[in-house]
Parts: sequence; C-alpha cells; structure tokens
Amino acid sequence: MIVDRQGRYFRNLRVSITAACNFACTYCVPEGYRRQKAKRPLNGSQLLQAVKLLTRLNPIEKLRITGGEPLISEYFDEFVSGLAAFDFKDVSLTTNGQFLVGKAAFIASQKIRRINVSLDTLDPVKFRAINRGGDLDSVLNGIDAAQKHGLSVKVNAVPTRSGNLDQIVKLLDYCLQRNIELRFIELMKMGHLLGSSEFSNEFVSMDYLLREIGNVYDFHRVETAFDSTSIRFEIPGKGFFGVIANESQPFCESCTRLRLSSSGYLHGCLSSTNKHYIADLLEMPENEALGILGERLTHVIADKQSTAFRGGQTIMRVVGG
Ligand code: 5AD
Ligand code: SF4
Repeated sequence: MIVDRQGRYFRNLRVSITAACNFACTYCVPEGYRRQKAKRPLNGSQLLQAVKLLTRLNPIEKLRITGGEPLISEYFDEFVSGLAAFDFKDVSLTTNGQFLVGKAAFIASQKIRRINVSLDTLDPVKFRAINRGGDLDSVLNGIDAAQKHGLSVKVNAVPTRSGNLDQIVKLLDYCLQRNIELRFIELMKMGHLLGSSEFSNEFVSMDYLLREIGNVYDFHRVETAFDSTSIRFEIPGKGFFGVIANESQPFCESCTRLRLSSSGYLHGCLSSTNKHYIADLLEMPENEALGILGERLTHVIADKQSTAFRGGQTIMRVVGG
C-alpha cells in the first residue's frame, strides 16, 4: 500500500475512459474548442488491466467512471462489464446525461448503482449557452429513465455568475421533488480558468449558495465520510443537498483520490501539472509491471497538495473531475 507523509492513501479511483465530449461547457472548455479525443486512448482491456494493477497495490474501495463523456466511449460497455470481476464497494458513473435514456437499462444491469448527472440549469436557452451541446430535455428524460431503472441519482451543478445564479433554488426544488441529492460544485481554477479573470468574475461561493437557499429553506449540516469532498446539508422533511467547496473549504488533507486518464496517465492531484504514464505497463507480465507501478505510485501520491487546491492546467475533460 502506498501512503504519503500525511497518512494519505488511494482508496478512490476515478477512471476517465475518454477525453472526448459531446458538450463543451464554458467552465471546462475554452471558447473555440469542441469535441476532442485523446491521441491514443486506452482500449477496454487496457483500461481494465490498469484497474487490476492499481487495485493490487492500493486498497481501492470505490471506482467512478468519468470522461469526457463516458457514454460516448466505444469501450464503455466492455469496461463496465469487465468491472464485474472486481469487488469494489461502490461503482459509480458521472455523465452529462445526454445519452442516458438509451443506456440506463444497461447501466442498471451492471455493478453501477449510483450515477451523477451534470445539470447546471433547467432553462433550455441557458443550457445551450453553458453546455454548448446537447439539449435539456434529453438530460431530464435521462434522469427519469435512470430513476425508473432503480439507479440512485445525484445532480452536479456548477454555479457561475453569468450562467445560472437564478437557477439555484429551481434546481434544488427539481431535485428535492425527485429524491435526488443536488451537489453544487464551486468553480475550480482548471485549464483555461487558471490565471484568468474569468475565474474571479464567474466564481460563486458556498456562502452565497447557502444564503440563497436559506432564504427559502431551513437546513442544517450533517456528517460525511472522512474523505468526502462534499459538505452535506439536510432540509428536514424534504431531503439533502451538498456543496463541494474546493475554494471555500479545501479538503486536500483527506484526499484519497487517484485518477487515470484515457491516454494512460495517472494524476495524483488536480492541482498538479504532473502526470505519470503507465500505459507501457499494461502489456507486461504482471509481476514486473507491479514492481514498476509501485515505484511510480510513490511519485503520484507525492503530487498531492498538503492543504489546499491552488488550481491546475489540467482540464476536467481529461481527468473527469
Ligand atoms: N470547476 C468545477 N467543476 C467543473 N466541472 C468541470 N469543470 C469544472 C470546473 N472548472 C464539473 C462538471 C461535472 C464534474 C465532473 O466536474 O460539471 O459535473
Ligand atoms: Fe463535457 Fe463534462 Fe467538460 Fe461539460 S464539464 S464539456 S460535459 S467533460
């Protein structure tokens, strides 16, 4: 097991199975860029082999499938089916929801029990402006389909000043009515937002969100797991919501996340530009690969920030949030 000086280890693996995305959200993709693919993406069996090696060296309990948009990967079905061979406590998926209607039945038939759907607004015009792709109705139908198939659904919303300030309570009501936990993700200085005035112009803090919600509902904070990124609140009798307060309340000290990108790199920290190639280990005899991987993982974990996220050039589309 790989442990750093602060006692942190990897128990949470996030696998970005493709860097391609059919959306181009303003906070993720700079103006002018659209669909892009990783140059030489790992295929389904390589992704599974990487997961296998990583689980041999780290006590991975949770695996989340991310992207880009994972549902557009040609390896999605193969990868998800292959996860049946592992005994993770929790397998989840983050998706923009556009193709969820067609995939919900398959997803529910596999090990995935929980999905997070990104949804920043319930207004179709604003949806086009923020997400620059897809359409709102498909996402909403996708959420309905997922629930109908028994999947537990959370919604992720990134609040931005010019994008969706008027949607905070609307999104919350939509979620409360459907027994969905809404999680606001404070804007992060990733990719083109790092060092740009766009970040400070657009940033909306947890305090602001809580004030807005407090005007309408009474709520109180509830406990979460030690390595949870989300600060969770209960609105008695109505449900729960959360805030991932990267900026206001950093959580690096208890970070247990390890990220694998679709081009075969490990990322120990979103706030570091370092990445560590491991695709060369996937065709090797396992014992040899494990020896080299163990050594590389000590560098991967050393990339973690000690206390706070400072921002990073990596874009979410590559590492999947
Ligand atoms: N800041 C905060 N959240 C982001 N996401 C993508 N880019 C950013 C950013 N710069 C979110 C997406 C998705 C999740 C995986 O990460 O909206 O819900
Ligand atoms: Fe695609 Fe997600 Fe980035 Fe939006 S935030 S462009 S859905 S990868």
